[in-house]
Amino acid sequence: MSGRFARALAGEPLAVPPIWLMRQAGRYQARYQALRARHSFEALCRTPELSAEVALGAVLDFDFDAAILFSDLLFPLEALGMRLSYDDGPPKLDGPLTLERVRQFRPLEDAAARLVFQRDAMAATRAELPREKGLIGFVGGPWTLFVYAVEGTHAGALARAKSSLDLYRAFADRIVPLLKENIRLQLDGGADVVMVFDTAAGELAPDAFGRDIGPDLAALARAFPKQLGYYAKGVQAAHLAASGWHDAREGPVPWAGVGLDWHWDLAKALTANGRTGFVQGNFDPSRLLATGRQLEDDIARFVAPLRGLSPEARRGWICGLGHGVLPGTPEASVRTFVNRVRESFA
Ligand code: CP3
Repeated sequence: MSGRFARALAGEPLAVPPIWLMRQAGRYQARYQALRARHSFEALCRTPELSAEVALGAVLDFDFDAAILFSDLLFPLEALGMRLSYDDGPPKLDGPLTLERVRQFRPLEDAAARLVFQRDAMAATRAELPREKGLIGFVGGPWTLFVYAVEGTHAGALARAKSSLDLYRAFADRIVPLLKENIRLQLDGGADVVMVFDTAAGELAPDAFGRDIGPDLAALARAFPKQLGYYAKGVQAAHLAASGWHDAREGPVPWAGVGLDWHWDLAKALTANGRTGFVQGNFDPSRLLATGRQLEDDIARFVAPLRGLSPEARRGWICGLGHGVLPGTPEASVRTFVNRVRESFA
């Protein structure tokens, strides 16, 4: 691997940043819709050749610098014994989660064996991917998976999840070891880096983030030093500071980098004192629903402060969105984003 993505991960100064987008393969794409008309979402995920075709389709359509495994982060819940269906619309889990059900979860080895399809999908993607492109794996953060297991969705106040900390502890003791196996399978399949997507983490107060879930996140990062990235939606610097990101006894948690949502000042994050690792982000995905003049202006405003930084200062920047591409996004807007960013730094 020698392309822009690998060089950004290695911390090399680059004129033009690598670009990939969360949810870059999906419903906004005509190519995806055509495949989806013939196969269920689960079949696309579980059949390595189809998963690879979807992941590669996004790279072919938009010339992204990396492919991301086409799969879903809820599969480990199914592997442990919850029933999961994607029949029509949003995923459905047969909640609610209880202590009794956690006790009935499958043993680690049985559960991990049910995730081997992700290694095979990753390997099938790697086999077809041009050498200069990167390959990204992903798992869900333990808290985000808990929220789905308890609430069935990530919506509303999350009161049940937040008021069930004993249940979270029991759940985390089972899911964290499984996530480690899941990550190992994806690395075995050829992932260059694995993202931990923690979409619900920002719903927690900073001290709760640090105390209740920080140690689980640190355990994942320490198991795979400099191979994992962490994306959380809605967190602030106070969350990251409270999480033992810089543990006085054990030293800094060895993340490869972080993904930031659009609330962050990206130029400031890139030039923060003591930054190590990549920073991915963070154009607001809602703005890609615009076309024409507004889109051009929005991209120009996003890029301007970053153009003000030297390639040295923005080492490790991986250009992307603050969250996933939204359904209904015009493909032309995604193409415009990629082209304008590249032209701005060429
Ligand atoms: O291109 C990529 O980013 C890779 C594939 C990917 C999917 N889901 C495909 C998908 C990834 C990385 C995910 C992660 C994911 N899945 C997250 C975390 C990141 C985020 O966006 O917040 C979460 C919370 C899920 C759980 C999930 N899966 C939800 C809430 C839904 C339905 C709602 C939605 O936005 O799609 C899914 C289904 C899903 N996952 C689809 C796709 C393309 C749609 C399935 C379909 O074709 O009907």
